Amino acid sequence: MKKVLLIFGTRPEAVKMCPLVRELKGRADMKTVVCVTGQHRQMLDGVLRTFAVTPDHDLDVMRPDQSLEDVTAAVLLGLGPVLEAEAPDAALVYGDTTTAFAGALACFYRHIPVGHVEAGLRTYDVDRPWPEEFNRRAVSLLSRYHFAPTQEAGDNLLREGVPAERVFVTGNTAIDALRTTVRDDYVNKELDWAADSRLILLTAHRRENLGVPMEGMFRAVRRAVEERPDVKVLFPVHLNPAVGRAAEEQLSGCGRIRLLAPMDVADFHNFMARSYLIVTDSGGIQEEAPSLGKPVLVMRDATERPEGVNAGTLLVTGTGEEAVYEALCCLLDDQAAYRAMARASNPYGDGHASERIADALSRLLREE
Ligand code: UD1
Ligand code: UDP
Repeated sequence: MKKVLLIFGTRPEAVKMCPLVRELKGRADMKTVVCVTGQHRQMLDGVLRTFAVTPDHDLDVMRPDQSLEDVTAAVLLGLGPVLEAEAPDAALVYGDTTTAFAGALACFYRHIPVGHVEAGLRTYDVDRPWPEEFNRRAVSLLSRYHFAPTQEAGDNLLREGVPAERVFVTGNTAIDALRTTVRDDYVNKELDWAADSRLILLTAHRRENLGVPMEGMFRAVRRAVEERPDVKVLFPVHLNPAVGRAAEEQLSGCGRIRLLAPMDVADFHNFMARSYLIVTDSGGIQEEAPSLGKPVLVMRDATERPEGVNAGTLLVTGTGEEAVYEALCCLLDDQAAYRAMARASNPYGDGHASERIADALSRLLREE
Protein backbone atom coordinates (compact mmCIF):
# COMPACT_ATOMS: atom_id res chain seq x y z
CA MET A 1 0.00 0.00 0.00
CA LYS A 2 1.30 3.47 -0.90
CA LYS A 3 1.54 6.20 1.72
CA VAL A 4 0.47 9.78 0.95
CA LEU A 5 1.24 12.68 3.28
CA LEU A 6 -0.92 15.81 3.05
CA ILE A 7 0.71 18.99 4.35
CA PHE A 8 -1.33 22.14 5.02
CA GLY A 9 -1.61 24.84 7.64
CA THR A 10 -3.81 27.85 6.89
CA ARG A 11 -7.59 28.24 6.76
CA PRO A 12 -7.98 28.21 2.96
CA GLU A 13 -5.68 25.22 2.54
CA ALA A 14 -7.71 23.33 5.13
CA VAL A 15 -11.03 24.19 3.46
CA LYS A 16 -9.73 22.80 0.18
CA MET A 17 -7.62 19.89 1.49
CA CYS A 18 -10.18 18.40 3.89
CA PRO A 19 -12.43 17.08 1.08
CA LEU A 20 -9.33 15.45 -0.43
CA VAL A 21 -8.29 13.96 2.91
CA ARG A 22 -11.72 12.41 3.24
CA GLU A 23 -11.64 11.08 -0.33
CA LEU A 24 -8.15 9.59 0.05
CA LYS A 25 -9.00 8.01 3.40
CA GLY A 26 -11.77 6.11 1.60
CA ARG A 27 -9.30 4.54 -0.85
CA ALA A 28 -8.13 1.01 -0.05
CA ASP A 29 -4.88 1.31 -2.02
CA MET A 30 -3.51 4.30 -0.10
CA LYS A 31 -2.64 5.11 3.47
CA THR A 32 -3.32 8.77 4.13
CA VAL A 33 -1.37 10.74 6.73
CA VAL A 34 -2.12 14.38 7.59
CA CYS A 35 0.47 16.86 8.85
CA VAL A 36 -0.74 20.35 9.69
CA THR A 37 1.86 23.04 10.20
CA GLY A 38 -0.39 25.23 12.33
CA GLN A 39 0.63 28.31 10.32
CA HIS A 40 -2.85 29.43 11.34
CA ARG A 41 -4.14 28.18 14.68
CA GLN A 42 -7.73 29.10 15.57
CA MET A 43 -8.72 29.59 11.91
CA LEU A 44 -7.23 26.21 10.97
CA ASP A 45 -8.65 24.31 13.92
CA GLY A 46 -12.18 25.51 13.16
CA VAL A 47 -12.03 24.08 9.64
CA LEU A 48 -10.59 20.77 10.87
CA ARG A 49 -13.48 20.48 13.32
CA THR A 50 -16.10 21.27 10.67
CA PHE A 51 -14.79 18.59 8.31
CA ALA A 52 -13.98 16.15 11.16
CA VAL A 53 -10.35 15.78 10.11
CA THR A 54 -7.85 14.85 12.85
CA PRO A 55 -4.21 15.49 11.96
CA ASP A 56 -1.58 12.83 12.63
CA HIS A 57 1.11 15.51 13.09
CA ASP A 58 0.84 19.15 14.15
CA LEU A 59 3.93 21.37 13.90
CA ASP A 60 2.13 24.17 15.79
CA VAL A 61 4.34 26.87 14.25
CA MET A 62 2.10 29.92 14.76
CA ARG A 63 3.56 32.59 17.05
CA PRO A 64 2.27 36.16 17.43
CA ASP A 65 3.88 38.68 15.09
CA GLN A 66 6.27 36.26 13.45
CA SER A 67 7.94 37.05 10.14
CA LEU A 68 7.80 35.11 6.89
CA GLU A 69 11.35 33.89 7.63
CA ASP A 70 10.16 32.57 10.99
CA VAL A 71 7.23 30.67 9.43
CA THR A 72 9.33 29.32 6.56
CA ALA A 73 12.12 28.12 8.84
CA ALA A 74 9.76 26.62 11.41
CA VAL A 75 7.87 24.63 8.77
CA LEU A 76 11.05 23.44 7.09
CA LEU A 77 12.70 22.35 10.35
CA GLY A 78 9.49 20.92 11.79
CA LEU A 79 8.81 18.77 8.76
CA GLY A 80 12.22 17.06 8.75
CA PRO A 81 11.45 14.57 11.54
CA VAL A 82 7.91 13.96 10.23
CA LEU A 83 9.21 13.09 6.77
CA GLU A 84 11.89 10.92 8.34
CA ALA A 85 9.38 9.01 10.46
CA GLU A 86 6.63 8.66 7.85
CA ALA A 87 8.77 8.18 4.71
CA PRO A 88 5.75 8.75 2.44
CA ASP A 89 5.66 7.66 -1.22
CA ALA A 90 4.32 11.11 -2.13
CA ALA A 91 3.31 14.33 -0.42
CA LEU A 92 0.58 16.79 -1.37
CA VAL A 93 0.70 20.52 -0.75
CA TYR A 94 -1.91 23.12 -1.64
CA GLY A 95 -1.77 26.43 -3.43
CA ASP A 96 0.58 29.26 -2.56
CA THR A 97 1.12 29.74 1.15
CA THR A 98 4.37 29.63 3.09
CA THR A 99 3.29 26.20 4.31
CA ALA A 100 2.97 25.01 0.70
CA PHE A 101 6.35 26.44 -0.32
CA ALA A 102 8.31 25.25 2.73
CA GLY A 103 6.46 21.92 2.68
CA ALA A 104 7.36 21.27 -0.95
CA LEU A 105 10.97 22.31 -0.31
CA ALA A 106 11.29 19.97 2.69
CA CYS A 107 10.00 17.07 0.58
CA PHE A 108 12.28 17.98 -2.32
CA TYR A 109 15.29 17.90 -0.02
CA ARG A 110 14.36 14.33 0.92
CA HIS A 111 13.54 13.17 -2.62
CA ILE A 112 9.87 12.70 -1.77
CA PRO A 113 7.71 13.34 -4.87
CA VAL A 114 5.43 16.35 -4.39
CA GLY A 115 1.94 16.70 -5.83
CA HIS A 116 0.76 20.30 -6.10
CA VAL A 117 -2.96 20.77 -5.68
CA GLU A 118 -4.35 24.00 -7.18
CA ALA A 119 -1.34 24.19 -9.48
CA GLY A 120 -0.76 26.65 -12.31
CA LEU A 121 -2.44 29.82 -11.02
CA ARG A 122 -0.49 32.87 -12.11
CA THR A 123 -0.62 36.65 -12.25
CA TYR A 124 2.95 36.73 -13.62
CA ASP A 125 3.62 39.66 -11.29
CA VAL A 126 5.76 38.36 -8.47
CA ASP A 127 4.60 41.16 -6.14
CA ARG A 128 0.88 40.47 -6.64
CA PRO A 129 -0.18 38.71 -4.57
CA TRP A 130 2.85 38.83 -2.34
CA PRO A 131 4.45 36.45 -1.47
CA GLU A 132 1.98 33.97 -2.96
CA GLU A 133 2.92 34.39 -6.63
CA PHE A 134 6.51 33.44 -5.77
CA ASN A 135 5.36 30.57 -3.57
CA ARG A 136 3.21 28.92 -6.21
CA ARG A 137 5.81 29.27 -8.94
CA ALA A 138 8.44 27.82 -6.60
CA VAL A 139 6.10 24.94 -5.70
CA SER A 140 5.67 24.23 -9.41
CA LEU A 141 9.43 23.88 -9.74
CA LEU A 142 9.57 21.55 -6.74
CA SER A 143 6.61 19.37 -7.78
CA ARG A 144 6.36 16.18 -9.77
CA TYR A 145 2.56 16.05 -10.15
CA HIS A 146 0.48 19.12 -10.93
CA PHE A 147 -3.27 19.12 -10.23
CA ALA A 148 -4.58 22.19 -12.02
CA PRO A 149 -8.09 23.37 -11.13
CA THR A 150 -8.89 24.68 -14.63
CA GLN A 151 -7.70 24.27 -18.20
CA GLU A 152 -6.28 27.83 -18.09
CA ALA A 153 -4.14 26.95 -15.08
CA GLY A 154 -3.06 23.72 -16.77
CA ASP A 155 -2.14 25.67 -19.91
CA ASN A 156 0.06 28.01 -17.84
CA LEU A 157 2.04 24.99 -16.66
CA LEU A 158 2.37 23.54 -20.16
CA ARG A 159 3.62 26.91 -21.47
CA GLU A 160 6.20 26.89 -18.69
CA GLY A 161 7.48 23.52 -19.85
CA VAL A 162 5.86 21.11 -17.40
CA PRO A 163 5.45 17.76 -19.23
CA ALA A 164 1.82 17.19 -20.27
CA GLU A 165 1.72 13.73 -18.65
CA ARG A 166 2.30 15.35 -15.25
CA VAL A 167 -0.52 17.93 -15.54
CA PHE A 168 -4.06 16.93 -14.52
CA VAL A 169 -7.03 19.26 -14.86
CA THR A 170 -9.30 18.31 -11.98
CA GLY A 171 -11.51 21.21 -10.93
CA ASN A 172 -10.99 22.97 -7.62
CA THR A 173 -11.63 21.11 -4.36
CA ALA A 174 -13.12 24.39 -3.02
CA ILE A 175 -16.27 23.45 -4.90
CA ASP A 176 -16.21 19.96 -3.35
CA ALA A 177 -16.26 21.66 0.07
CA LEU A 178 -19.05 24.03 -0.92
CA ARG A 179 -21.32 21.14 -1.91
CA THR A 180 -21.30 19.89 1.67
CA THR A 181 -21.93 23.15 3.54
CA VAL A 182 -24.66 25.27 1.90
CA ARG A 183 -28.17 24.53 3.14
CA ASP A 184 -31.55 26.00 2.23
CA ASP A 185 -32.76 25.86 5.86
CA TYR A 186 -29.70 27.62 7.31
CA VAL A 187 -30.48 30.29 9.94
CA ASN A 188 -28.25 32.70 11.84
CA LYS A 189 -28.95 35.76 13.98
CA GLU A 190 -26.55 37.95 11.99
CA LEU A 191 -28.46 37.11 8.83
CA ASP A 192 -31.70 37.98 10.66
CA TRP A 193 -30.15 41.38 11.47
CA ALA A 194 -29.43 41.93 7.76
CA ALA A 195 -32.69 40.44 6.47
CA ASP A 196 -34.28 43.86 5.82
CA SER A 197 -31.29 45.04 3.75
CA ARG A 198 -28.97 44.25 0.91
CA LEU A 199 -26.10 42.41 2.58
CA ILE A 200 -22.49 43.01 1.62
CA LEU A 201 -20.14 40.33 2.91
CA LEU A 202 -16.68 41.86 3.31
CA THR A 203 -13.29 40.19 3.87
CA ALA A 204 -9.72 41.45 3.51
CA HIS A 205 -6.32 40.22 4.58
CA ARG A 206 -3.74 40.33 1.74
CA ARG A 207 -0.30 41.32 2.94
CA GLU A 208 0.31 43.70 0.03
CA ASN A 209 -2.92 45.53 0.99
CA LEU A 210 -2.04 46.02 4.68
CA GLY A 211 -1.68 49.65 5.73
CA VAL A 212 -2.71 52.51 3.45
CA PRO A 213 -4.48 50.46 0.72
CA MET A 214 -6.56 48.52 3.23
CA GLU A 215 -7.55 51.64 5.16
CA GLY A 216 -8.70 53.21 1.86
CA MET A 217 -10.63 50.07 0.90
CA PHE A 218 -12.48 50.14 4.22
CA ARG A 219 -13.23 53.87 3.93
CA ALA A 220 -14.66 53.24 0.45
CA VAL A 221 -17.02 50.58 1.80
CA ARG A 222 -18.07 52.81 4.69
CA ARG A 223 -18.82 55.76 2.43
CA ALA A 224 -20.91 53.65 0.04
CA VAL A 225 -22.86 52.11 2.92
CA GLU A 226 -23.47 55.35 4.81
CA GLU A 227 -24.99 56.85 1.64
CA ARG A 228 -27.42 53.91 1.19
CA PRO A 229 -29.77 53.15 4.09
CA ASP A 230 -30.86 49.80 2.63
CA VAL A 231 -27.34 48.30 2.73
CA LYS A 232 -25.67 46.45 5.62
CA VAL A 233 -22.21 44.93 5.92
CA LEU A 234 -20.97 41.85 7.77
CA PHE A 235 -17.19 41.57 8.03
CA PRO A 236 -15.64 38.51 9.67
CA VAL A 237 -12.26 40.02 10.49
CA HIS A 238 -9.12 37.97 9.78
CA LEU A 239 -7.03 37.36 12.92
CA ASN A 240 -3.98 39.17 11.57
CA PRO A 241 -3.77 42.02 14.14
CA ALA A 242 -2.98 44.55 11.38
CA VAL A 243 -6.32 43.78 9.73
CA GLY A 244 -8.16 44.08 13.04
CA ARG A 245 -6.66 47.49 13.76
CA ALA A 246 -7.56 48.88 10.32
CA ALA A 247 -11.09 47.48 10.57
CA GLU A 248 -11.65 49.03 14.01
CA GLU A 249 -10.23 52.39 12.95
CA GLN A 250 -12.13 52.72 9.69
CA LEU A 251 -15.37 50.80 10.20
CA SER A 252 -16.39 50.88 13.85
CA GLY A 253 -19.22 53.18 14.94
CA CYS A 254 -21.33 52.68 11.82
CA GLY A 255 -24.62 51.05 12.83
CA ARG A 256 -25.02 49.17 9.57
CA ILE A 257 -21.56 47.60 9.61
CA ARG A 258 -20.80 44.70 11.94
CA LEU A 259 -17.30 43.41 12.60
CA LEU A 260 -17.37 39.72 13.52
CA ALA A 261 -14.86 37.08 14.56
CA PRO A 262 -13.65 34.78 11.74
CA MET A 263 -16.54 32.51 10.86
CA ASP A 264 -16.79 28.79 10.80
CA VAL A 265 -16.49 27.79 7.16
CA ALA A 266 -19.97 26.29 6.98
CA ASP A 267 -21.41 29.54 8.36
CA PHE A 268 -19.33 31.59 5.94
CA HIS A 269 -20.49 29.59 2.93
CA ASN A 270 -24.11 30.05 3.95
CA PHE A 271 -23.55 33.78 4.51
CA MET A 272 -22.12 33.99 0.99
CA ALA A 273 -25.16 32.21 -0.38
CA ARG A 274 -27.47 34.77 1.33
CA SER A 275 -25.47 37.90 0.53
CA TYR A 276 -26.32 40.49 -2.12
CA LEU A 277 -22.68 40.90 -3.09
CA ILE A 278 -19.21 40.15 -1.81
CA VAL A 279 -16.29 42.55 -1.48
CA THR A 280 -12.96 40.86 -0.85
CA ASP A 281 -9.27 40.47 -1.58
CA SER A 282 -9.40 36.74 -0.83
CA GLY A 283 -8.39 34.06 -3.31
CA GLY A 284 -10.69 31.22 -2.28
CA ILE A 285 -13.79 33.38 -2.17
CA GLN A 286 -13.24 34.22 -5.85
CA GLU A 287 -13.67 30.51 -6.58
CA GLU A 288 -16.67 29.87 -4.36
CA ALA A 289 -18.80 32.91 -5.21
CA PRO A 290 -19.28 32.22 -8.96
CA SER A 291 -20.95 28.89 -8.31
CA LEU A 292 -23.30 30.65 -5.88
CA GLY A 293 -24.07 33.35 -8.46
CA LYS A 294 -22.82 36.15 -6.22
CA PRO A 295 -21.09 39.19 -7.70
CA VAL A 296 -17.63 39.76 -6.26
CA LEU A 297 -15.65 42.98 -6.24
CA VAL A 298 -12.03 41.86 -6.00
CA MET A 299 -9.97 44.51 -4.23
CA ARG A 300 -6.69 43.73 -5.95
CA ASP A 301 -4.68 45.03 -8.89
CA ALA A 302 -4.51 41.59 -10.51
CA THR A 303 -6.11 38.20 -10.08
CA GLU A 304 -4.76 34.72 -10.74
CA ARG A 305 -8.36 33.59 -11.20
CA PRO A 306 -9.34 34.98 -14.62
CA GLU A 307 -12.00 32.31 -15.12
CA GLY A 308 -14.42 34.08 -12.77
CA VAL A 309 -13.72 37.41 -14.47
CA ASN A 310 -14.42 35.85 -17.87
CA ALA A 311 -17.60 34.27 -16.50
CA GLY A 312 -18.68 37.79 -15.51
CA THR A 313 -18.99 37.15 -11.76
CA LEU A 314 -15.73 38.79 -10.62
CA LEU A 315 -14.71 42.39 -11.16
CA VAL A 316 -11.16 43.44 -10.27
CA THR A 317 -11.46 46.95 -8.83
CA GLY A 318 -7.86 47.83 -7.92
CA THR A 319 -7.08 48.82 -4.35
CA GLY A 320 -7.44 52.62 -4.38
CA GLU A 321 -10.22 54.11 -2.26
CA GLU A 322 -11.93 55.89 -5.16
CA ALA A 323 -11.76 52.85 -7.44
CA VAL A 324 -13.33 50.58 -4.83
CA TYR A 325 -15.93 53.21 -3.95
CA GLU A 326 -16.96 53.75 -7.57
CA ALA A 327 -17.19 50.04 -8.38
CA LEU A 328 -19.28 49.46 -5.28
CA CYS A 329 -21.63 52.38 -5.94
CA CYS A 330 -22.08 51.24 -9.54
CA LEU A 331 -23.02 47.73 -8.50
CA LEU A 332 -25.37 48.97 -5.77
CA ASP A 333 -27.13 51.53 -7.95
CA ASP A 334 -27.17 50.01 -11.43
CA GLN A 335 -29.55 47.06 -11.51
CA ALA A 336 -28.47 46.02 -14.99
CA ALA A 337 -24.81 45.95 -13.95
CA TYR A 338 -25.75 43.92 -10.88
CA ARG A 339 -27.87 41.43 -12.84
CA ALA A 340 -25.10 40.97 -15.39
CA MET A 341 -22.76 39.82 -12.63
CA ALA A 342 -25.25 37.82 -10.53
CA ARG A 343 -25.16 34.70 -12.67
CA ALA A 344 -24.23 31.30 -11.39
CA SER A 345 -21.41 29.65 -13.30
CA ASN A 346 -19.02 26.84 -12.54
CA PRO A 347 -15.60 27.75 -13.91
CA TYR A 348 -13.88 26.07 -10.96
CA GLY A 349 -15.37 22.62 -11.26
CA ASP A 350 -18.29 20.35 -10.56
CA GLY A 351 -17.54 19.37 -6.97
CA HIS A 352 -15.72 16.14 -7.86
CA ALA A 353 -12.13 17.42 -7.96
CA SER A 354 -11.01 15.29 -4.99
CA GLU A 355 -12.10 12.11 -6.76
CA ARG A 356 -10.13 13.05 -9.88
CA ILE A 357 -7.01 13.88 -7.86
CA ALA A 358 -7.26 10.63 -5.91
CA ASP A 359 -7.76 8.62 -9.13
CA ALA A 360 -4.75 10.24 -10.81
CA LEU A 361 -2.55 9.86 -7.75
CA SER A 362 -3.51 6.23 -7.28
CA ARG A 363 -2.58 5.47 -10.89
CA LEU A 364 0.68 7.45 -10.76
CA LEU A 365 1.85 5.75 -7.59
CA ARG A 366 0.98 2.32 -9.02
CA GLU A 367 2.84 3.00 -12.26
CA GLU A 368 5.93 4.70 -10.84
C1 UD1 B 1 -1.72 33.44 5.04
C2 UD1 B 1 -1.11 33.14 3.67
C3 UD1 B 1 -2.00 33.69 2.57
C4 UD1 B 1 -3.43 33.25 2.72
C5 UD1 B 1 -3.91 33.57 4.12
C6 UD1 B 1 -5.30 33.03 4.31
C7 UD1 B 1 1.33 33.15 3.53
C8 UD1 B 1 2.54 33.96 3.32
N1 UD1 B 1 0.16 33.81 3.54
O1 UD1 B 1 -1.66 34.84 5.20
O2 UD1 B 1 -1.51 33.24 1.32
O3 UD1 B 1 -4.21 33.95 1.78
O4 UD1 B 1 -3.05 32.97 5.07
O5 UD1 B 1 -5.94 33.56 5.39
O6 UD1 B 1 1.42 31.95 3.68
N2 UD1 B 1 -3.45 34.67 13.16
C9 UD1 B 1 -3.96 34.22 14.35
N3 UD1 B 1 -4.72 33.08 14.35
C10 UD1 B 1 -4.98 32.40 13.21
C11 UD1 B 1 -4.45 32.86 12.00
C12 UD1 B 1 -3.69 34.00 12.00
O7 UD1 B 1 -3.75 34.82 15.39
O8 UD1 B 1 -5.69 31.38 13.28
C13 UD1 B 1 -2.61 35.91 13.15
C14 UD1 B 1 -1.21 35.68 13.73
O9 UD1 B 1 -0.82 36.81 14.41
C15 UD1 B 1 -0.37 35.54 12.46
C16 UD1 B 1 -1.05 36.53 11.55
O10 UD1 B 1 -2.44 36.36 11.82
O11 UD1 B 1 0.97 35.85 12.72
C17 UD1 B 1 -0.81 36.33 10.06
O12 UD1 B 1 -0.92 34.97 9.71
P1 UD1 B 1 0.02 34.38 8.53
O13 UD1 B 1 -0.33 32.96 8.31
O14 UD1 B 1 1.43 34.70 8.79
O15 UD1 B 1 -0.39 35.22 7.27
P2 UD1 B 1 -1.77 35.54 6.60
O16 UD1 B 1 -1.79 36.99 6.32
O17 UD1 B 1 -2.87 34.94 7.40
N1 UDP C 1 -13.71 31.69 5.14
C1 UDP C 1 -14.16 31.20 6.37
N2 UDP C 1 -14.48 32.09 7.35
C2 UDP C 1 -14.36 33.43 7.20
C3 UDP C 1 -13.86 33.92 5.96
C4 UDP C 1 -13.53 33.02 4.95
O1 UDP C 1 -14.29 30.00 6.55
O2 UDP C 1 -14.66 34.17 8.14
C5 UDP C 1 -13.34 30.71 4.08
C6 UDP C 1 -13.82 31.01 2.68
O3 UDP C 1 -15.09 30.43 2.43
C7 UDP C 1 -12.74 30.35 1.84
C8 UDP C 1 -11.49 30.53 2.67
O4 UDP C 1 -11.93 30.73 4.01
O5 UDP C 1 -12.97 28.96 1.72
C9 UDP C 1 -10.70 31.71 2.17
O6 UDP C 1 -9.71 32.00 3.10
P1 UDP C 1 -8.90 33.36 3.08
O7 UDP C 1 -9.70 34.43 2.45
O8 UDP C 1 -8.42 33.56 4.48
O9 UDP C 1 -7.61 32.99 2.23
P2 UDP C 1 -7.27 33.03 0.67
O10 UDP C 1 -8.29 32.22 -0.05
O11 UDP C 1 -7.23 34.46 0.27
O12 UDP C 1 -5.92 32.42 0.59
